Amino acid sequence: MSTRLTDLPLDPIETASRAELQALQLERLRWSLHHAYANSPVYRRKFDEAGVHPDQLQSLADLARFPFTSKQDLRDNYPFGMFAVPQDRVARIHASSGTTGKPTVVGYTLQDIDNWATVMARSIRASGARRGDKVHISYGYGLFTGGLGAHYGVEKAGLTAIPFGGGQTERQVQLIQDFKPEVIMVTPSYMLAIADEFERQGIDPASTSLRVGIFGAEPWTPEMRLAIEKRMGISAVDIYGLSEVMGPGVANECAETKDGPTIWEDHFYPEIIDPDTGAVLPDGEFGELVFTSLTKEAMPVVRYRTRDLTRLLPGTARAAFRRMEKVTGRTDDMMIVRGVNVFPSQIEELILRHAELAPHYQCVLAKEGHLDTLTVRVECAHGSDTPRAHSAREQLAHEIKSYIGVTAGIEVLPEGGIERSVGKAKRIVDQRKR
Ligand code: DLL
Repeated sequence: MSTRLTDLPLDPIETASRAELQALQLERLRWSLHHAYANSPVYRRKFDEAGVHPDQLQSLADLARFPFTSKQDLRDNYPFGMFAVPQDRVARIHASSGTTGKPTVVGYTLQDIDNWATVMARSIRASGARRGDKVHISYGYGLFTGGLGAHYGVEKAGLTAIPFGGGQTERQVQLIQDFKPEVIMVTPSYMLAIADEFERQGIDPASTSLRVGIFGAEPWTPEMRLAIEKRMGISAVDIYGLSEVMGPGVANECAETKDGPTIWEDHFYPEIIDPDTGAVLPDGEFGELVFTSLTKEAMPVVRYRTRDLTRLLPGTARAAFRRMEKVTGRTDDMMIVRGVNVFPSQIEELILRHAELAPHYQCVLAKEGHLDTLTVRVECAHGSDTPRAHSAREQLAHEIKSYIGVTAGIEVLPEGGIERSVGKAKRIVDQRKR
């Protein structure tokens, strides 16, 4: 096994055997299904309708007999209808705004918050944080799970939290210069905006005290990792999570291997399904990621369909725990352009091949008569003169056609031409519905 980059103590389960982990999973899965059935009218009805009872779970594979849960279930039971504990046991509420309609609301007991802090602390250690590190948190605080989730994890790991939150980019730069944090937690797209601000102030972003970046909340490609690592002079790891299942820290990459997030399977049981048929697929095959919570009290989730596309891989740095391949697309983000499926991450990968272009981009979908059109709007890189950026434009159009199979118009914008987000980047602008 490769040498660990953290000098902080691991949780005992992190070094358990796969058999020990699976025994714990089965015990916890039984508890979780019984808890959902006994205390949530929504799950009781769903299980009854599907003709299944928690007693029928004899092995982990039996989970496949239970019905799925989706975002629609949360919407239908807005705001608190999915909770499985009385209100006086709910210690905290979070919500994610989503793109349409009502927000998705989730709740936590004190025990849930403690378990969340545990997996977050684990994630931060796995990322290569070390004793005495200060952690600059630029994920948004508030109803979004990013800020507070990271915060409790930093404290539980025994490190120093700097609860900056999102926005005020100039001040982010100033405090990074003054407080000298070793670790930053932020969306990869906002990291780029902070890097731009460093440059605007005449500071080399690779010259800071930062050593480790823990990036997630949105898809980012391996090419983006290399670009951020080089520009910031740090090691960049991937953190994955979603509010419905907990928040950040469902899975986190280990710094020594950087081979996809390790899933903290003692709290979240993963499955991969065929998104069309719902059939469970074997490890190694691509499909939609589904999670069942194993310890959550306030809002257990049973077979929650994440819509994230990935596959399960065997454990490496934490041998007993399976990994997921880096998520570079969700079913919702798939653009269908004249019949060809395209993910923004495919475009990102190609943009990053061109030093003249900056990875600030948007995919604009529109209609020309009855036909869909795709325009990629991308900025030219800092200091890159426009004629060179314009020749990159032609190459990019050619590469999109030959590698992805769609014809895309390319619009090269001056620096700052794409609106910066302080959290999740908006990669798709769909003008077809107007
Ligand atoms: O984004 C939780 C989070 C906060 C994760 C901070 C990591 C860091 P939601 O707002 O509910 O929760 O959005 C969840 O974001 O289903 C994925 O589609 C996407 N996502 C999250 N992390 C990653 C990642 C938070 N590392 C949704 N790679 C998920 C790709 C990610 N997509």
